[in-house]
Amino acid sequence: MHTATQERLVRPARNIYGSLRLPGDKSISHRYGMLAAFAQGVSRFTNFSTGADCASTLACMEALGAKINRTGNQAIEITGVAGRVTPASHPLDCGNSGSTMRMISGLLAPQQGRFTLIGDASLSRRPMERIRKPLEAMGARLTLTDGHAPIQIEGAPLKAIDYTPSVSSAQVKTCILLAGLQTAGTTTVREAVRTRDHSELALRAFGATVERTMDSVSIAGPQPLHAIDATVPGDISSAAFFLCAAALFPGSNLVFDELGLNPTRAALLDVLTALGARIAVLNLEEKHAELVGTVQITAPVDGIGSTTISGPVAAQLIDELPVLAAIGPYTRGGIRIRDARELRVKESDRIALVAKNLRAMGAEVEEFEDGLDVPGGQTLHGATIHSGGDHRIAMAFSVAALRAEGETLIQGADSAAISFPEFFDLLDLVAER
Ligand code: S3P
Repeated sequence: MHTATQERLVRPARNIYGSLRLPGDKSISHRYGMLAAFAQGVSRFTNFSTGADCASTLACMEALGAKINRTGNQAIEITGVAGRVTPASHPLDCGNSGSTMRMISGLLAPQQGRFTLIGDASLSRRPMERIRKPLEAMGARLTLTDGHAPIQIEGAPLKAIDYTPSVSSAQVKTCILLAGLQTAGTTTVREAVRTRDHSELALRAFGATVERTMDSVSIAGPQPLHAIDATVPGDISSAAFFLCAAALFPGSNLVFDELGLNPTRAALLDVLTALGARIAVLNLEEKHAELVGTVQITAPVDGIGSTTISGPVAAQLIDELPVLAAIGPYTRGGIRIRDARELRVKESDRIALVAKNLRAMGAEVEEFEDGLDVPGGQTLHGATIHSGGDHRIAMAFSVAALRAEGETLIQGADSAAISFPEFFDLLDLVAER
């Protein structure tokens, strides 16, 4: 299946069958890595994300004085800086990772010293005003480059705020909470849509007190953090590619062990159920307040139906929308996505790239400023896919390729390693050909 390093040929499959245990959740690994590096003591994690994005977070935290010791393939030990980082002599390279850049900015704004954050070409195009505004409202000194990275931070003591971000973003919420953690008084973030709550749960796991209401989170600073030992749950956003693949094949049967099932992340299971897939959840457990369980999916014999994703659920499903759109042509009634304008400012313009690549495979698709209409009942053919260096586009179209006629060449397939380096190997494992 290998052609060149950057390209992968994906052949159609007859069925999807097997059992998987996925590497640790990217969002949780970022938070555990960052908080452990900031806390007092030595934290130990197993099943830590293998993705390049989380490696960027660890490298930044190492440059700021934390000690990172990889004790096994997915096991790490982190010795924290006990609340006081050492300013790095070099710019902190956040790579492709928006989470690293936005969250670390909040962590560093109240620290002493000057910090420069840089990223790759994609990250350097992504909007950063959304963190500058709240941090400046707290009194931080932050300079962007035309609204983007590089970011210069001149650390200084901050003041607590009560803030409602203009976009629903867990990264922005986390940025403010990490600044609030180190700031006297109570900092509150209000959200119209409840975004993923891993930061709130992780801060509590590391010993902080965090107050929550239905639509707000508050933290009274300053508070110290203490090291923990934890196993990171499997990444449900990585599972999404396999769940959607399984949904396409009547007779499929796929089981995921120890999958993260945090309710703010699990909306895809509802969508797949609405499409007609059968989902069973077993062995539910809580680990550091994160829900973990076994998930089994089987597809309906007469194919999957149709759905519209709009309103708050579009924000909660934001990372899963590319793969849902990519399987849209194989549904009976199509997939309609709205209120997902944020997709345009992810690692790529995901609305434009999904539309372009679906068309390359011969699909009919209508593009809107905030979404897509993908009619169902279509037959696609293999094509050359341009991932735009975006991991979720590369993986979404590898899934679409499984039901296409002929082979599909995924260009920039190596980008899968941003979140899920094992993706193509696991796809070969469960795709029956
Ligand atoms: C993430 C939040 C989301 C998501 C990203 C990870 C997080 O971004 O798209 O992949 O870990 O907080 P936004 O906060 O920009 O919506």
